[in-house]
Amino acid sequence: MKLSPRAGRIGVSPTMKVAAAAIALKSQGVDVVDLGAGEPDFPTPAHIAAAAHAAIDAGFTKYTANSGTDELKRAIAARYREDCGVEYATSEIIATAGGKQALFNAVLVLFGAGDEVVTHMPGWPTLVEQIRLADATPVIVRTHAEDGFRVSADAILAALTPRTKGIIINSPGNPTGALISEDDLEAVAQEAARRGIWILLDLCYEKLIYDPTPHNLPGVLARTLRDRAVVCGSASKAYAMTGWRCGWALAPAPVISACNALQSHSTSNVSSITQKAVVAALAGPQQCVSDMLDEYRRRRDQVTAWLAAEPRLRVVRPAGAFYLFPDVSDFLSPDGLRTSADLAQALLDDARVAVTPGEAFDAPGFVRISYATSLEELRRGTERIIGFVRALAAVAQR
Ligand SMILES: Cc1ncc(COP(=O)(O)O)c(C=O)c1O
Repeated sequence: MKLSPRAGRIGVSPTMKVAAAAIALKSQGVDVVDLGAGEPDFPTPAHIAAAAHAAIDAGFTKYTANSGTDELKRAIAARYREDCGVEYATSEIIATAGGKQALFNAVLVLFGAGDEVVTHMPGWPTLVEQIRLADATPVIVRTHAEDGFRVSADAILAALTPRTKGIIINSPGNPTGALISEDDLEAVAQEAARRGIWILLDLCYEKLIYDPTPHNLPGVLARTLRDRAVVCGSASKAYAMTGWRCGWALAPAPVISACNALQSHSTSNVSSITQKAVVAALAGPQQCVSDMLDEYRRRRDQVTAWLAAEPRLRVVRPAGAFYLFPDVSDFLSPDGLRTSADLAQALLDDARVAVTPGEAFDAPGFVRISYATSLEELRRGTERIIGFVRALAAVAQR
């Protein structure tokens, strides 16, 4: 079938492919330990779900303003005011169907053919695909396990050319959990201000940072580059609300207006019920966020310790998000499993554990292990992984 050239340029997100294979096996009753999940395993906190029930009971089930209710936009503004000390008017905010749509809108209204947009890899593949969908050219800065996948100002600045129109930074990053420091972002933002370049921040994991690290990136941009900054956030990961589909963008009013126009011809407003739930999430008690963070931290530390039993699985301790991203290249060979995609497939087929191959994040030689699942599942999963790779190494030595 002949589809458009645009359709030919994109495929389904590779992170979703692995999830689908694991789900198919599980539905056949196979005991798969699923460490592929890109979402919290916690239920949405009860007070948030209750707000949604109340919205339905009150008949709050119609269209709302396309960019979101004033109540929701005020709640988003208040959260960033309290957490980051930044001021945004409701005309500078749009509620979107997840952080994904916030980024999609912004990329489409800001970039086009002939523009270069810099982003970093290993990273979330959607950012690169969105740049391509806008007919712009992605320029990839590579980060490295040796220095903790740090996103450095020097590397980003070295990638700028006269055609650079934007820079997209994801911090904490998926799959590495790495951060950009406030100082590095400030250095990038100062240069971006000089050159008239946009900076888009993907802060979907901003509430999932484990150690006390200064990470007020919206604050940095507010003082350096306020009129060329787009801050994208999401309720998905912080409040265990992936299925509810709500994110947001904070940006200068003309950008938000353009995003609003685009969204008005695609998805319209976020579900009215979800909007009420997200008001409860943002304006209500934040204890649930720190409780979930504490549990993720326990899991991160425990799984890192378990994996340390096999030093050939080289793991960088992540600063945020909920993924470990070990280098598995010691277990690959030309006459055995050649790639990390082969390894991930063999892990699923033979050891019944699902991980996401590094290829999905433009990082062959690595796999992503999600610790957004119970410690018991993590224990079973790590045992299977270690048993599998050791058997592999033993065969290779024979
Ligand atoms: C780095 C990153 N950004 C953004 C998103 C978007 O999430 P959502 O659309 O659910 O807010 C994800 C989801 O996995 C992600 O990993």
